[in-house]
Amino acid sequence: MMDRIKQTYKKRKLRKSSVVVLCSTGLVFAMAAGLFAHSVANSNGSVQVATMGKPVTAPVVEQETQPEPTPEVYNPYGVDPAKPMIALTFDDGPSKHTWAIVDTLKTHNARATFFVLGNRVPSYQAAIDHVLANHNEIGSHSMGHANLTKMATEEELLAQIRPVDEALQKQHNYTPKLFRTPYGAKNDDVLATLKSEGKPVIGWSVDPRDWDVKDKKKVVDHVLANVKDGDIILMHDIYEPTAEAVAELVPALQERGYQLVTVSELFQLRGVTPLPGVYYSKLPPQTFE
Ligand code: NI
Repeated sequence: MMDRIKQTYKKRKLRKSSVVVLCSTGLVFAMAAGLFAHSVANSNGSVQVATMGKPVTAPVVEQETQPEPTPEVYNPYGVDPAKPMIALTFDDGPSKHTWAIVDTLKTHNARATFFVLGNRVPSYQAAIDHVLANHNEIGSHSMGHANLTKMATEEELLAQIRPVDEALQKQHNYTPKLFRTPYGAKNDDVLATLKSEGKPVIGWSVDPRDWDVKDKKKVVDHVLANVKDGDIILMHDIYEPTAEAVAELVPALQERGYQLVTVSELFQLRGVTPLPGVYYSKLPPQTFE
């Protein structure tokens, strides 16, 4: 190629142009050397300069320290991490009352976490779809609400954990990240197994005992009297008074400045990574101006 160009220029007897060609050739080499030096510097951190194709190490030039990039946070719902937030959670479902609770959350642009029982998953597939379609989170609450501290063998314990994920994965292409033990019962063996299964263990910090009182007003009053930033609130989406309480609670909590997020959102937006086998009942409340 270069020879042909040179021949062309010779034919035209334009010697000055040959100089230009030589200069261009030199420029191409210089650029190539620059690219080479750049790639070497990127690959191992030290700066090397290409000389006749052989890199030699040159002193590292002191560079201005760049600020650490902020880790990307998945926050498509406009939640402000610098404002109060709490997580409503619903256990023991799904049930026919799950729908009304999801609709209330949807109406108020709020989300919650549903800790489902694996043995209810096949009967409530549409309810689970409704939960997921409205950006709520599903956690596992075991297969059949057994007290996991009373399991005789590791196999029995795993039989309460693994089939829940398998059912949700198979029927909804969804794998729950979080686990809530039935009755909140846990011991070292349960936590060790949940650790090996990759499950953070989620408790609660506000308990209106909705399953016991079955009274809308008592549930609403208890939550409003006790809630603070970072709280995880325990309810059950299998009782009608609870669904009625949620319809009042969601707007009342938002009026008090609380953003209602899923448990995973609460952790992520506060920069906390929940660890497998570790028990969390809430996040520490922040101070707001
Ligand atoms: Ni339960």
